[in-house]
Amino acid sequence: MTINKKLTIGLFGFGVVGEGIYKVLQQTPALDASIKKICIKHPDKKRNAPSELFTANANELLNDDSINVIVELIDDADAAFAIVSAAMKRKKAVVSANKKMIATHFEKLLQLQIENNVSFLYEAAVCGSVPVIRNLEEYYDNDLLNSFSGIVNGSTNFILTKMKEENLNYDTALLQAQQLGFAESNPALDVEGKDAVNKLTIVLKHAYGITANPESILHLGITHLNPFDTKYANEKGYNIKLVANAYQVTENKIAAYVLPTFIVQKNPLYNIRNEFNGVLIGSKLADEQFLYGKGAGRFPTASAVLSDIAALRYNYQYEYKKSSSGVKYQLTGKSVIKIYVSFSDRTLVQENDFIEVEESYLSANINHLIGTILLDDLRNVTWFNNNAVSVIAISDISDTVNQNDN
Ligand code: HSE
Repeated sequence: MTINKKLTIGLFGFGVVGEGIYKVLQQTPALDASIKKICIKHPDKKRNAPSELFTANANELLNDDSINVIVELIDDADAAFAIVSAAMKRKKAVVSANKKMIATHFEKLLQLQIENNVSFLYEAAVCGSVPVIRNLEEYYDNDLLNSFSGIVNGSTNFILTKMKEENLNYDTALLQAQQLGFAESNPALDVEGKDAVNKLTIVLKHAYGITANPESILHLGITHLNPFDTKYANEKGYNIKLVANAYQVTENKIAAYVLPTFIVQKNPLYNIRNEFNGVLIGSKLADEQFLYGKGAGRFPTASAVLSDIAALRYNYQYEYKKSSSGVKYQLTGKSVIKIYVSFSDRTLVQENDFIEVEESYLSANINHLIGTILLDDLRNVTWFNNNAVSVIAISDISDTVNQNDN
């Protein structure tokens, strides 16, 4: 094992996180990692670093044999994939925070790691500073992971918190999330649940060895929520959170989805505020475990990138242990969940869309139904992803954690 390998870094991107890692590395001399060159798209923009570090030519980094690590922190997923592929082919280790790129190109990225025997680490891609991937990868190997249930997007959690606690309207809260550097450059990825589903796709690989297409996983964001939903949540003592779920349905079948969710007070996710993330792990032997920390922002994300860079000193690689384990898990939509659906136009949603309706409220302004439905059926109803219809999952912590006992 090489412990004090010298790391010479080529950095792509000098945005919120890129500048963060540049600053953090300056304050971490013991790591023996230095940035040799930084590739940026707009060379004329003023930067808080010496100008000789910057170039707009990617090949200056990729073709430099003294650079043994590429840290990729740009937000264009396609350009990032080209950079990461080229770097791995040149036997450079890669650290990335690009959830969209990883979720979209998982198979190819795995192949490149194997073919070139290089490390490709991306702890910062899921839950920012919270070490979720290495935990799932290393710790839960011999344990039975019943479920993963997490707030994995800081921006939406920030928006929902500000709307509830400070009465901010959606647009103002979103603007603040952007100004604070939490949101994606295209914030639609956050608020439409795309960022969360990309992260869930990465989780599925490390938790269950499943390679999924993020678009095929049922997901909704927070854009369709309306004031009636908030009022209902307040009356019932719920908090609304955007939650990514994966849980075991049968021995080898896993259900996965991202939905806004009514969270009861006894659930640890209830108290996760602002840009914090939290993950509840249901484990057959250990029962329930909880990971918590900042999920977005310059230094929390840089902290995870730094941890990956540090792990390269001993050539750490993900082994994707679950992919080669005895049980071959597959995704299933044959799982029943409980949802609340609100809508003004009564023709939109029918009671017989549900397996069973347990609450029905009709009024002049707004209607809602609460009932159970199969995930596969929810995906296919005409009102799913219709902005005039709000769909919110109802989660009781015991439902998720003990799913496998049913
Ligand atoms: N936009 C992301 C979020 C950044 O809000 O969680 C961290 O992945």
